[in-house]
Amino acid sequence: MATKTDTIRVKRLAGAVGAEICGSDLSNPMSDEAFDTIHHAFLEHCVLVFRNQQLSPGQLVEFSKKFGAMERHILSDFSLAEHPDVFLISNVKSKGKPIGAIRAGQYWHTDCSYMQRPTKASLLHSLQVPSYGGDTMFTSTIKAYEELSPLMQDFLGGLKAVHDYTNAYETFFSKVADRPPLSAADKAKAPPVAHPVVRTHPETGRKAIYVNPGFTRRIVDMTEKESRSLLNLLFEHVAQPHFIYRHTWASGDLVMWDNRSTWHLAIADYDMNERRHFHRTSLAGDEPS
Ligand code: SIN
Repeated sequence: MATKTDTIRVKRLAGAVGAEICGSDLSNPMSDEAFDTIHHAFLEHCVLVFRNQQLSPGQLVEFSKKFGAMERHILSDFSLAEHPDVFLISNVKSKGKPIGAIRAGQYWHTDCSYMQRPTKASLLHSLQVPSYGGDTMFTSTIKAYEELSPLMQDFLGGLKAVHDYTNAYETFFSKVADRPPLSAADKAKAPPVAHPVVRTHPETGRKAIYVNPGFTRRIVDMTEKESRSLLNLLFEHVAQPHFIYRHTWASGDLVMWDNRSTWHLAIADYDMNERRHFHRTSLAGDEPS
């Protein structure tokens, strides 16, 4: 029997990355065919937008699980007690303290690249959005890799870089007053790790640049000056406008992205007195190679 999800359409949103899935209600059961269409679109467009989704935390987890095993963030205090797979990205405070990860991702990054096995994909469901601002930008690290010269591609192919969660705290969170510092226990859960500078997507075989401003500290075996110059060159290259899709949130949007082929950045241009409150789930990934 045809369900509403059998009539879905995939609409591209930008040149390099991003597509909208139209005509889906993710709170309903979905046919295998509908899921195949969505999964294929996810691998091709790397960022998917589903609008007007009324999803309970349980329904968000159920939809997320269709793509693989769930993963929990190391900042476990910001997960929903009754749904520990659901992490709060929120500027809402209770008794003066943030109830979720406040100012999360306000710098270009790919989720949890500082882990040995970084997050495969993330799903973000908006519940409350500010009256203006707070968009999220996504950029394609695949298209950025493909635009490099063959000489540069070859050179990068032999390099590794160190990723470290504390890098984001030193370069970004130390400048804002409201983000609690990383505890020693949380630091211990994420010691620095080295990954290849170029990774091959395990499902599509496409190559992508795998360093990011949030978490990449340095290139292995280079001097500090060489490493900084090369990282800056790559960071500027990947953040060019023609690789980017910018998402303006409405309440009920679900956006999912592939962390193996994109970076994202949450724009901090909204009034912090207005609520920006999202539920996020994450899928376990494999070791970049
Ligand atoms: C994140 O980096 O997961 C947060 C993105 C956002 O708040 O838009």
